[in-house]
Amino acid sequence: MGVIIEPLSRDFVDPVAEIEAECFSVPFTKKDISEYLENGLWRFFVARESGTVLGYISFRIVFDECHICNVATAPKARRRGVGSLLVSHLISYAKEQGAIKFFLEVRESNLAAIKLYEKFGFVRVGVSKNHYTMPRENAILMNLE
Ligand SMILES: CC(C)(COP(=O)(O)OP(=O)(O)OC[C@H]1O[C@@H](n2cnc3c(N)ncnc32)[C@H](O)[C@@H]1OP(=O)(O)O)[C@@H](O)C(=O)NCCC(=O)NCCS
Repeated sequence: MGVIIEPLSRDFVDPVAEIEAECFSVPFTKKDISEYLENGLWRFFVARESGTVLGYISFRIVFDECHICNVATAPKARRRGVGSLLVSHLISYAKEQGAIKFFLEVRESNLAAIKLYEKFGFVRVGVSKNHYTMPRENAILMNLE
């Protein structure tokens, strides 16, 4: 498949916000994403096939730690390796930037995402009780070192 991974640009804020709204009960809005592009609080890589955004990953790197915020693939593009491409691209990029630790939180019912992360060597290191709202749910904390 001709999928390219690249940093999010202004042109693709709308499709990222649409995927976000399709995937999460408390999504980042267009305004949030535009602000993150400006202030760098969260950074994004998108996966696109020609002009169509198939998915994205959001993250931040602070010193030697990379925190993955979200990874999402548009429902109609799932199980084609897009999520894996995004995670592997981020891991390589973050290592080049000096990251040696990766961490994330994931809903404990989200078996697809947990399997995706485990595929890259992430391990469960703890539970954050009632971490999420809508619905209220525990988070599994996962690390990769
Ligand atoms: C999790 C998600 C990003 C996976 O994206 P994807 O593009 O379908 O992932 P891939 O095709 O690269 O699949 C990678 C691996 O993830 C696991 N996986 C993905 N979807 C799965 C499912 N529905 N059930 C079980 N395992 C699944 C499998 O181990 C898969 O490897 P395999 O295809 O070799 O079996 C996608 O399901 C999604 O966007 N979910 C909604 C958003 C979300 O919950 N994100 C995580 C927030 S922390």
